[in-house]
Amino acid sequence: MERIKFGPTDLMVSPIGLGCMSMSGCYGQQDDAECIATIHKALDLGINLLDTSSNYGEGHNHRLIGEAIKDRRDEVVIHSKLGSIRPDGVNVVSGTPEHVRNSTESGLKNLGIDCMDVICISRVDPVVPIEETVGAMAEMVKEGKTRHIGISKEANRDIIDRAWAVHPIADIQDEYSLFVREPEEELLDVCRERGMAFMAFAPLGRGILGGLFHGVAEMPEGDRRRSDPRYKPGNMEHNIAMVTKLEAMAKEKGVAVATLALAWLMHRDAAVIPIPSSKSRDHLEENAAAVDLELSLEDLVRLEGICPPGAVAA
Ligand SMILES: NC(=O)c1ccc[n+]([C@@H]2O[C@H](COP(=O)([O-])OP(=O)(O)OC[C@H]3O[C@@H](n4cnc5c(N)ncnc54)[C@H](OP(=O)(O)O)[C@@H]3O)[C@@H](O)[C@H]2O)c1
Repeated sequence: MERIKFGPTDLMVSPIGLGCMSMSGCYGQQDDAECIATIHKALDLGINLLDTSSNYGEGHNHRLIGEAIKDRRDEVVIHSKLGSIRPDGVNVVSGTPEHVRNSTESGLKNLGIDCMDVICISRVDPVVPIEETVGAMAEMVKEGKTRHIGISKEANRDIIDRAWAVHPIADIQDEYSLFVREPEEELLDVCRERGMAFMAFAPLGRGILGGLFHGVAEMPEGDRRRSDPRYKPGNMEHNIAMVTKLEAMAKEKGVAVATLALAWLMHRDAAVIPIPSSKSRDHLEENAAAVDLELSLEDLVRLEGICPPGAVAA
């Protein structure tokens, strides 16, 4: 698989990454051995960018990835988020210098590596000034604990400008898919202007755009997506009607609907790197195939007609 420059850094990454969140219990039970096999298969397919977080499974995700890459560290770019603590089992945003240090150091220990490729705050702390959080992350760069730093949700032009005044920012990570178009309002422009990468999380709408389920009943009991407004009865039928049209278009092109949805993202802007998650090997080839799917202007217009901004019911 080809390699592209990761924003303003010297890292060379695949144009699509692997999100590892669901390997630590987010969407139902996982099997660790299958998750490790999935990471190996991703590497074998040429996908070298792994997205993780200290928060996923409270260290489980890092330990799992550490096990998977122990003999393959040089093949992988680790993008690891921090910025959230669970004092009483509930996620609380934290951008304090103390949290940045503790989270980075425990992440390195759990991963069994000396240096992260990118640490990224998962949420901007509304209390701690961004300069303080980024200053602490820059300290991690100076100490050789990470090569680069990034920002996830709640970033905007002002936050990004203030962060850049302290240290260069490699990437912005936010939700972006045919169903979630908000990054087109500002963030993609800022990424283009600054030369930052944009990591599109939940690029398959958490499964619906991959045709994973076509009704609430198909979702496992207790699956946290059942509380997502997009999947509530009423909204679900409306949204599935769009997926059905996408599936018809994908069929005409001889590809899976996930391949089509991910290729659309990569055609939107060169900065966009989708990071679909998979906890088993089944879907990886369909996702990797998006890198090679060429879409014509006519295809893009048709996709825009099926899923215009704001069309999703939520
Ligand atoms: N920064 C943040 O706040 C934030 C928030 C959420 C997520 N993320 C990151 O983004 C990554 C992806 O997000 P996400 O997992 O929420 O959503 P997603 O990638 O849109 O959807 C994942 C779901 O789609 C399924 N899937 C994957 N490929 C498929 C295919 N080809 N066909 C059918 N179904 C397919 C997966 O099932 P299988 O496991 O069965 O393949 C899984 O249930 C996460 O792993 C995480 O790294 C970041």
